[in-house]
Amino acid sequence: MVVVVGGPSSEKLGSDIAKKLDLPYINLESKVFPDDESYLKFPEEFREDELIVIQSCFPKQDKRLMELLFIVDTAKESGVKNLNVVIPYLPYARQDKKFRAGEVVSNRSIGNLLYTVGTDLLLTIDVHQYESFKEFKMRRLNISAMPLLAEHLKSMSLSNPCIIAPDKGAIGHAEVISSILKTDCTFFEKQRDGITGKVETIEKDLNFRGKDIVIIDDMISTGGTIANVSKIAKNCGAEKIIAACTHALLVGNAEEKMRNSGVTEIVTTDTVPNRFCKISVAPIIVDTLRKIIEI
Ligand code: R5P
Repeated sequence: MVVVVGGPSSEKLGSDIAKKLDLPYINLESKVFPDDESYLKFPEEFREDELIVIQSCFPKQDKRLMELLFIVDTAKESGVKNLNVVIPYLPYARQDKKFRAGEVVSNRSIGNLLYTVGTDLLLTIDVHQYESFKEFKMRRLNISAMPLLAEHLKSMSLSNPCIIAPDKGAIGHAEVISSILKTDCTFFEKQRDGITGKVETIEKDLNFRGKDIVIIDDMISTGGTIANVSKIAKNCGAEKIIAACTHALLVGNAEEKMRNSGVTEIVTTDTVPNRFCKISVAPIIVDTLRKIIEI
């Protein structure tokens, strides 16, 4: 029997997925001790062969990851044979190599930890760089939420839209969206200071008069990348400016920063729950799970 477990960060998503798959759902008992350590408990009669664990690891990333490691380790120890782990937002994916000598490669360490505790299959959504993910030792799959974002953008009746990738890494996403919307697309180049983290976007002389703009990225963290591009787009005459992404972390004053630079709307999915989530990733997770495991 296959059973779905929603970790503490993804109880709603987990139970939605279980309902759509018509599978039993297990709610773990969870609490946090005064010193911030997490406590989790499976039901006493828990004895299953195959599990689908859903836990998105948005901030606080370390806590979410630690909870997930506890869940997978405990499930494996209790005799689960197939452990399918769904991490809609996989953190630490941007540190996927040594940019400077001596740096840790966090992405690889996370992969090793998940594998060591017993993950058989890892399913993620729009992981930062698919190439680095290939180093993970377990079976893994990454799915794109871009078609879902494109469908939502279609319903917004945008005027003569142009899709923008704010850096080279987002070109693939912009191309997917623009091919579904049948619109123009362009990209910017970005440089990030390896020490201060400050982002600079190289200016481009473009004419956006009479156009709505969609800036698309895998994630928005501090909003700096989007704000830079939005300012340029506004100076080039853009009408509405939509910031769209799969994972909206919106750290600190990210929203204010983007609004002040001309962003009129933020469109995102529920891999990171916040007030802008209009799109659920449950359907694409369900479709993928149906294809890859026997349910
Ligand atoms: C990095 O290249 C990512 O794709 C995003 O562009 C980046 O993480 C966004 O970060 P921020 O919102 O802090 O500029």
